[in-house]
Amino acid sequence: MVKKIAVLTSGGDSPGMNAAIRAVVRTGIHYQLEIVGIQFGYRGLLRQKFLPLNLKSVGGIIQHGGTILMTSRSVKFKTKEGVKEAAFILRENNVDGLVIIGGDGSLAGALDLYQQENFPVVGLPATIDNDLYGTDMCLGVDTALNTIVSAIDKIKDTASSHRRAFLIEVMGRKSGYLALMSGIAGGVEAVIIPEYPTDIEELSVQLKKGYQRGKSHCIVLVAEGAGDIYQIGKLLETKIGFRMRVTILGHLQRGGSPSGFDRILGSRLGAEAVIQLLNHQDHHMVGLSGSEITTIPLAEVLANKKAIKKPIVELAAILAR
Ligand code: F6P
Repeated sequence: MVKKIAVLTSGGDSPGMNAAIRAVVRTGIHYQLEIVGIQFGYRGLLRQKFLPLNLKSVGGIIQHGGTILMTSRSVKFKTKEGVKEAAFILRENNVDGLVIIGGDGSLAGALDLYQQENFPVVGLPATIDNDLYGTDMCLGVDTALNTIVSAIDKIKDTASSHRRAFLIEVMGRKSGYLALMSGIAGGVEAVIIPEYPTDIEELSVQLKKGYQRGKSHCIVLVAEGAGDIYQIGKLLETKIGFRMRVTILGHLQRGGSPSGFDRILGSRLGAEAVIQLLNHQDHHMVGLSGSEITTIPLAEVLANKKAIKKPIVELAAILAR
């Protein structure tokens, strides 16, 4: 019988993690469970950083970015011994199931705990990269998109005033999702993403034509996984014949108050994670498909790649003239 659940956040933080923690705690308490938080992710688990959580501990956190449980990336947890030790610590502390909130590395750790140690786990997809198979949206993506769009709007103001060209680097690790979607929402001139090759020659002709038509600015988004933004900038400069300023948005994309969407998503995912553990569905990820909360085995999530479909890339190109 499930009596005690632990929850941790791991890997890069993302807005909405606090909403998910709050939902795990409050749903767990609703079902008469004892809830314990683990600070600093898997590293904290190996150091037994347990923190009892009650209704009050998660009051007033839903509007805050980051994670009240803190997070980390642990090397030791990636070893067989580390996973074994973690399962031992969890069992010693009478924990019957663990909710892991994080990205692909964190969910891979969850699967290790289940496969190697038969420990019940549920994963919640939380990464601004939106690169996890099995969910339409990961927690934090919507907020990050809004942050990026607001940055693009601001850069556009100064770009237009000076008739300047800008390259903006957007996070996403190997995924171009954030760059592509914020490019559409921000109305930029071009988006360079790793999933589809960009012909720099063709792009420079297009940008030049835009200037000749009297465009007052030129914004090109570069996904961080698409290559060195400074090199891309130099290449474009030599072909177009005018200077391109570079802005790297960096970690500000991960912070900030979560959007309404992320607060609701975190709340729904967190609540469902508890129900999954109560129902002994204990090796799944809870995700979003359309507007429905769904579950998918963690093994399937990690064995597959989330693709960026061609039509949305084509749409971005058509609109970016
Ligand atoms: O996975 C989230 C993410 O923000 C990526 O977009 C980025 O490449 C990476 O984390 C940065 O990691 P760190 O915070 O360790 O520098």
